[in-house]
Amino acid sequence: MALTLVPDSSSRDIPGPKSKELMELRKKYLPESVSNATPLFAAEAKGAIITDVDGNEFIDFAGGIGVLNVGSCPIEVVNAIKDQVERLIHTSSVMLHEPYVRVAEKLCTITPGDTPKKAFLVNSGAEAVENAVKIARKYTGRRGVIALENSFHGRTMLTSTLTSKAKPYKVGFGPLATDIYRVPSPYCYRCSFGQTYPGCTLECAKALKKILDTEVAPEDVAAIILEPIQGEGGFIVLPNEYLRYVKELCEEHGFVLIADEIQSGWGRSGKLFAIEYSGIEPDILTTAKSIAAGLPLSAVVAKADVIDSVHKGGIGSTYSGNPVACAAALKVMEMMEKYNLPQRANHLEEILLNRLSVIKEKYPFIGDVRGRGAMYAVEFVKDKAAKEPVTNEISKIMELCLQRGLIVIKAGTYNNVIRFLPPLVIKDEQLVKGLDIFEESIALVFNA
Ligand SMILES: Cc1ncc(COP(=O)(O)O)c(C=O)c1O
Repeated sequence: MALTLVPDSSSRDIPGPKSKELMELRKKYLPESVSNATPLFAAEAKGAIITDVDGNEFIDFAGGIGVLNVGSCPIEVVNAIKDQVERLIHTSSVMLHEPYVRVAEKLCTITPGDTPKKAFLVNSGAEAVENAVKIARKYTGRRGVIALENSFHGRTMLTSTLTSKAKPYKVGFGPLATDIYRVPSPYCYRCSFGQTYPGCTLECAKALKKILDTEVAPEDVAAIILEPIQGEGGFIVLPNEYLRYVKELCEEHGFVLIADEIQSGWGRSGKLFAIEYSGIEPDILTTAKSIAAGLPLSAVVAKADVIDSVHKGGIGSTYSGNPVACAAALKVMEMMEKYNLPQRANHLEEILLNRLSVIKEKYPFIGDVRGRGAMYAVEFVKDKAAKEPVTNEISKIMELCLQRGLIVIKAGTYNNVIRFLPPLVIKDEQLVKGLDIFEESIALVFNA
């Protein structure tokens, strides 16, 4: 197959001398256990372009792992941060500040459902999930939490237990948290029940009922937690029928439904929150990542009676609702509306889906292309019939992409998925160029 190389790709020195020099420091002073997707050091970034310390530019298909939906350093957010940082940086719970209540107000109005809500701010995705589980347990007076296979909810002790991937997230860290129960997820490409969606009998949803007979009585279940689109699991879109079934089960037994929208939120899916596609209202929604354009902020948005079941002081954190992060979040929320970024994700989906569908047909080792909005992933297999995952080749594709000026990251329970989370402000030409580089790299790796 004739390949058109991206100009200058072979002449780029990646990693360059400065990145190499800094890597020596990294090796000496940072633990090996913290993994990095590239051997590069970033110097600056704007929109969907990152420049490293050696002046190499890259199209960003990772968006800081779903954090940069509004792009890197948008001027509105930068100015809001500057303005805030000059006036007030921190108060903790010692004194309230306006940005916190404004963010909470906004969150309670833009998250799905009409039920009165309240919002509580923390710092990371895992911290939001930890608190969501605490709140659900307090509200129900029960301990059990049901989580899905292929899920990712964080790396703290509780959230790594909720996460469904043994390596690297659990191995060697036990004892893990108790009272967590696992059910299959609607991973339709690899259906645990050998069925084909659409048109299946939703055995994955029925497995939830079964576990209530075999593993944990409904009276002991506080919550079901799920990602409407499983992120680290490889962009598995939970079908609406599945979500509605779960919601009914929650209502029948008094379980709290926690929608973890940490990766799928903020316009990424083509709606502000991905759960909106199903029309259901979760009892608790966790959000983080793109909420504050890269400043550390996360939130638990819950039905008021659910979150108000917690006693005073039962939830909190020193850095909860940092004013600077809140100022950035308010600007992000404004930008979501002003530039209609969920709609922009739908536009990007057209480009992604058209191109990736063609690529899928063309190459025998692409088993699945899936996602929603600007959240798309490609699953690689040895051949389409056997679906055996390929893994080594994924790192090679990522490396070739990098040499050619594109940053991509992987995902998937079997580490055989490449996912795209470009900033929603990426220019069409940048997206197309990135997809060219992606195709060229996979063709080179598989000698196609
Ligand atoms: C769905 C989901 N939940 C929770 C987390 C944990 O977030 P954090 O890494 O900020 O703790 C992530 C992170 O990728 C995520 O994607």
